Amino acid sequence: MINNNNIREKGFIDIRPDKNINLVSEIKKLKIEKNAVILAHYYQNPEIQDIADFVGDSLKLSQEAAKTESKIIVFAGVHFMAETAKILSPKSKVLLPDLNAGCSLADSCPTDEFIKFKSKYPDHIVVSYVNTTAEIKAESDIICTSSNAVKIINSLTPEQKIIFAPDRNLGNYINSVTGRNMVIWNGACHVHEEFSLERILELKKENTDAKIIAHPECEKPILLVSDFIGSTEALLKYTISDNNKKYIVATESGILHQMQKANPNKIFIPAPPKDSTCGCNDCRFMKLHTIEKIYNCLKYELPEITLDEDLRLRAEKSLIRMLELSK
Ligand code: 13P
Ligand code: SF4
Repeated sequence: MINNNNIREKGFIDIRPDKNINLVSEIKKLKIEKNAVILAHYYQNPEIQDIADFVGDSLKLSQEAAKTESKIIVFAGVHFMAETAKILSPKSKVLLPDLNAGCSLADSCPTDEFIKFKSKYPDHIVVSYVNTTAEIKAESDIICTSSNAVKIINSLTPEQKIIFAPDRNLGNYINSVTGRNMVIWNGACHVHEEFSLERILELKKENTDAKIIAHPECEKPILLVSDFIGSTEALLKYTISDNNKKYIVATESGILHQMQKANPNKIFIPAPPKDSTCGCNDCRFMKLHTIEKIYNCLKYELPEITLDEDLRLRAEKSLIRMLELSK
């Protein structure tokens, strides 16, 4: 029998499925048999996005997790997202096909250091980006995502002092848009910090008709040359409503799949990273999931995300506040 202990070493079920079965059809059958739903983030590989019941950004996925009636949620995203789904949907069994799917941004905010940091600002409330562990969510007053961050900060009175964690680029961007002076934790995402301004500008010279669009997790110099800044969802919507035909896209490359599907006649160019030898605009954590791992995960109902109930309840409060403020 396979259990979470067997998986601990590798982080996923390492069993080769029978070569003669069609994994995509089997996944569809298992989903119906087991009353399961597959939620996938926009940064997943295209074939995973295409078998998902729901594809979205962090906000839409947490809203979907909160309202699902399914017995099983297979989360094709990273650990903090699956954890968020478990916090909001405790009765569902939440599965993450590969437990190694972590997040460099969530890792950049260890709980003990954050508690010390927070204690220096006793009159501040904590607004944390959803890209955090359940422990950090439990230490926060409100959660936000890149889609609703400005709205949530603007809902607080101007006198309210705020700590923002963990993404310094998103925090600085929110400060610049809202005129606030939030105290910002010094964390960052390895994907969004890797874009090269120099190479983006070279690309723009070769494609003068292209617009540059960027996620606010990117560094300030990239945001300064961008024609549009927005969350993954906002970037996708912009490419649909805008009349331009070509875009240089400074965010994780997985979103290009939905952009291309929604705009078959437009051209999307992934923004290049500083290190031209690596595919750094691919999130190495997001891209760990495969169709094979999703099949095994549904079949054996493992690896499962579990949470201590006290921690879950403490983390839930800040997430519920976000969902209420995002209505
Ligand atoms: P959004 O899904 O809110 O755009 O966040 C981007 C991200 O980095 C998710 O890991
Ligand atoms: Fe984390 Fe960045 Fe990957 Fe998103 S893209 S999961 S923030 S490492």
